[in-house]
Amino acid sequence: MIDLSIELFQLKLKNPVTVASGTYGFGEVYEKFYHPKFLGAITTKGLTLEKREGNKGVRCVETASGILNSVGLQNPGIDVFIKEHLPNLKSKGALVFVNIAGKTVEEFIELGERLEKTDVDLIELNLSCPNVKEGGLAFGISPKKVGEITKKVRMVTKKPIVVKLSPNVTNIVEIAKEAEFNGADGLTLINTLQGMAIDIDSKRPILGNIYGGLSGPAIKPVALRMVYDVYKNVKIPIIGMGGIVTYQDAVEFILAGASMIGVGTGNFIDPFAPIKIIEGLKKYMEIYRFNKVEEMVGLAHSERR
Ligand code: DOR
Repeated sequence: MIDLSIELFQLKLKNPVTVASGTYGFGEVYEKFYHPKFLGAITTKGLTLEKREGNKGVRCVETASGILNSVGLQNPGIDVFIKEHLPNLKSKGALVFVNIAGKTVEEFIELGERLEKTDVDLIELNLSCPNVKEGGLAFGISPKKVGEITKKVRMVTKKPIVVKLSPNVTNIVEIAKEAEFNGADGLTLINTLQGMAIDIDSKRPILGNIYGGLSGPAIKPVALRMVYDVYKNVKIPIIGMGGIVTYQDAVEFILAGASMIGVGTGNFIDPFAPIKIIEGLKKYMEIYRFNKVEEMVGLAHSERR
């Protein structure tokens, strides 16, 4: 009997599929397509202490190979989320993973403290947003900062903490190990890959912020390689994401070492992508005679037969 449920971060999840932060808002828009309770968990848009309007100028460009975004963490602020959006999500029976972003270490601590008093199920530390001047990538490229923030948020909450890491580094394993050493329960791999686009008529960068984060199928091989490398070197579970659109993509990430997967740009390509992936995973497990998702995690590392 195929059972898609998993136990992860001391939580019981219906299946190993979530949505990448920032691609699902707080769920309201997607409710017309499917009920949020069908997902293993929902992951919210990145939340900051204060409301943010986001970056000025053009914030999204569709390229031949994926989407470039420079949203700049537009969000209503943590308190509005806790008061207005969280109750709706919880009333729907969804598990709620909350992505948080601070400009300073202190802001991360404060966000952790506020969430500790709520019924959110997991905190995702966004140490990898490529589109903000303070925090974001500046934290994510520094093993020391990743360690410090993880440790300090760990001290103020008993909730599971996962750390979302950046692909814009050459030492992903070192950074992942710092997060693990300092008390992370898991890692999310990967955030978006820094890039840009130029308008050949105005002869200027298209994005208001010049650079943006590339997502979608273009970054899948990079994400997969990072999940594979990190899995070999850390013991905590990985939520894999980066260009997952089909169940075949999801299977690749699980075989590379992801215990759970996130659909990001895939939601814009097909709003039903996460549901189709859940169905496809079931079929794949039937064909290859797996009973539990855990049996597949990291299989690409076993010796060739
Ligand atoms: O690509 C991204 N865009 N990654 C993030 O972490 C945040 C987001 C934004 O709001 O700019």
